[in-house]
Amino acid sequence: MAKVELRDIRKTYNAEEIIKGVSLDIENEEFVVFVGPSGCGKSTLLRMIAGLEEISGGDLMIDGARVNDLEPAKRGLAMVFQSYALYPHMNVYRNMEFGLKLAGMPEAERRQKITDVARTLQLDAYLKHKPGQLSGGQRQRVAIGRAIVRNPKVFLFDEPLSNLDAALRGQMRVELATLHRRLKATTIYVTHDQVEAMTMADKIVVLQKGVVEQVGSPLELYHHPRNLFVARFIGSPPMNFLPVTTRSIDPEGVTVARDRGESLLVPVLPGETASAEALTLGVRPEHIVIDPEGDVHGTIRMVERLGALTLLHVTLADDTLLIVQTDGDHGGEIDRPIRLRLQADNCHLFDARGIALTKLTRHRLAR
Ligand SMILES: Nc1ncnc2c1ncn2[C@@H]1O[C@H](COP(=O)(O)OP(=O)(O)OP(=O)(O)O)[C@@H](O)[C@H]1O
Ligand SMILES: [Mg+2]
Repeated sequence: MAKVELRDIRKTYNAEEIIKGVSLDIENEEFVVFVGPSGCGKSTLLRMIAGLEEISGGDLMIDGARVNDLEPAKRGLAMVFQSYALYPHMNVYRNMEFGLKLAGMPEAERRQKITDVARTLQLDAYLKHKPGQLSGGQRQRVAIGRAIVRNPKVFLFDEPLSNLDAALRGQMRVELATLHRRLKATTIYVTHDQVEAMTMADKIVVLQKGVVEQVGSPLELYHHPRNLFVARFIGSPPMNFLPVTTRSIDPEGVTVARDRGESLLVPVLPGETASAEALTLGVRPEHIVIDPEGDVHGTIRMVERLGALTLLHVTLADDTLLIVQTDGDHGGEIDRPIRLRLQADNCHLFDARGIALTKLTRHRLAR
């Protein structure tokens, strides 16, 4: 059982503030994923929670007690690093045993624990191997096993799968998710991988330059990004953006137009934009339909065939680039004209500050 609370957490390096007041509630058993561009402070935040980095300001609470000054070993956490950080001269068994020995666990109990965890992680056949004799995926499992045997209240993972090849990564992702369902330990997980974030998280935290941009379930962030930054960051390939102007405001939504004419009624709350205001329209590649009657005219500039689906890079008359997702067998040809329709219900509008207008939406998500 562990609830982790961050209250206005700050980190300063050489007078420069790197983490600028992060407040966050991580509930017991929750799987929380930190995402954000390189250098935004994900690892720093994780290391402060682990106790590997001093906290410059704010309060870190675990189960209601302030732990800012508690040494790492006493916080009840276990961290798994991208680099695995295994002891190269110790075999798998000794690597897993090391922390337990330090903690003074009796030998018989240690053996029981390690045997159990090794079986769960399918490492039983490798207990006598040294890390150098293991594959990347096996090493990663040892690093995870070493964390599990300690029975932590909270697991901290910093990009644990990023050194693995794509197939193994997919397999380990499923294994970690299964493990979390079984162990039910509160987990904080840092990743660059969209699929990991979307599929594993109960809650995603999007960070930019040491500030939380948005916190929400994966689908909340996908359907209701709060601002342009989150809209651009969540989703792959990323959302397309078009400059538009407000034409009319009605109870059903706001009608916007591009400077060449086509207009679109987007179901957002009226009252958050004024007539003739310049806005940004956002539409994901999967929400643009190829339609011979469509009123958006463009030219295909590039075709990326991914097998299951095809991505068309289309430029409009004003050179705006749109990425359009279509089926795998689409016979798109370079330099051909194409007509497109934007699914209005799935479009987003952002004001001049980059803040999303509230959607009047069917995507009312169950929490
Ligand atoms: N020991 C340090 N001294 C000074 N600055 C540091 C130190 N550690 C990190 N930083 C700075 O803090 C910022 C955040 O770094 P951090 O490693 O937390 O980023 P990150 O989000 O984990 O990035 P990545 O995705 O590349 O791992 C960076 O600008 C980095 O240069
Ligand atoms: Mg990092």
